Amino acid sequence: MPFLLLMSLAHSGDNSVLLTVDGISTVIPNVNGSSISTPTGLVNGNHTVELRKRSEGFYGSISIGNVTTDGVLGPDRIPARKIEFIGDSITVGYGMDGIYPCSNTAVLEDNPKTYAALAANSLEADYDVIAWSGIGLIRNTAYGSSPGDPVMPDRWTQYGANDPENSYTFPKSEIPDAVVIALGTNDFSVNNNNREPLVPADFTSGAVSFIRTIQTHYPDAHFFLLQSPMIGDGWPAGENQWTTQKNAFNAAITQLNSTKIHFIGWNTQGSDVACDYHPTAATNAAEAPIVAAAIAEALGW
Ligand SMILES: *[C@@H]1O[C@H](CO)[C@@H](O)[C@H](O)[C@H]1NC(C)=O
Ligand SMILES: *[C@@H]1O[C@H](CO)[C@@H](O)[C@H](O)[C@H]1NC(C)=O
Ligand SMILES: *[C@@H]1O[C@H](CO)[C@@H](O)[C@H](O)[C@H]1NC(C)=O
Ligand SMILES: *[C@@H]1O[C@H](CO)[C@@H](O)[C@H](O)[C@H]1NC(C)=O
Repeated sequence: MPFLLLMSLAHSGDNSVLLTVDGISTVIPNVNGSSISTPTGLVNGNHTVELRKRSEGFYGSISIGNVTTDGVLGPDRIPARKIEFIGDSITVGYGMDGIYPCSNTAVLEDNPKTYAALAANSLEADYDVIAWSGIGLIRNTAYGSSPGDPVMPDRWTQYGANDPENSYTFPKSEIPDAVVIALGTNDFSVNNNNREPLVPADFTSGAVSFIRTIQTHYPDAHFFLLQSPMIGDGWPAGENQWTTQKNAFNAAITQLNSTKIHFIGWNTQGSDVACDYHPTAATNAAEAPIVAAAIAEALGW
């Protein structure tokens, strides 16, 4: 008798997910039914089934309902370690499965291959990803955001991507040990000088204020401010954005005056890029151990 696991689901818009059964992964490029089942032909025995969302909430949402099986469900193994990643398109995995030039779609996004997922997996930690392409800490991208789009300190309070602000209830069981904040690429963007360069002190104040807010919910968490590989010191000329972001984050760390706030460097990426100059899977894979090591050292993991 084959083994079957069925997950009922509700979804909206476009979604892509990664279904991994006993270590073998399949991309489901367009989740459009009311359930996902394991492939036929699994023999009786113990199986491990993972479902990870690949695309961001901008494209659509998924919620898993009932998980049923014609076998017996094993005990839940929920990792004690928890990390929350808060970011933009880099943390989404925007366009990662495309080769520049390409137009991003839900199926080209690949969150399971981001630095975030890889670092969490290597630490055997559970992780949440709160990320939205084009979002900033104090201002959104200069490339096509709308004036009313929330910045991350506002969107962060939403339970689901399109829920109202402050709808997330911060349940005690979900409090992370570590919070990684990977924002700034969009704040720094100027789109051929169509807007003023970012004022570094404003970015610093934004980081201080956001971290203080997060601390009211997660008072014991360690914070990690992650540099952007999508900005460099060479362009736009004279702005030294990569160094400026690093200094602005470190100024926030000084102001917060806590041993629990840390900076993590990420070098400007090379010439291999995915859609719209986003980091490739290889760039993410190279950064993941750096992020994991910083978290492990601070948390004693
Ligand atoms: C649903 O998605 C599958 C691929 O996962 C595709 O083959 C099928 O055409 C889609 N159906 C609809 C109605 O969009
Ligand atoms: C499946 O896992 C259970 C619980 O870990 C164990 O008791 C059992 O022996 C395993 N069965 C097989 C066929 O490996
Ligand atoms: C969940 O699955 C069980 C067992 O198949 C079924 O009795 C129940 O109605 C399902 N609940 C929902 C909300 O689908
Ligand atoms: C930083 O924190 C330490 C320990 O809590 C405190 O003694 C010190 O005065 C603080 N420094 C500043 C500049 O606030």
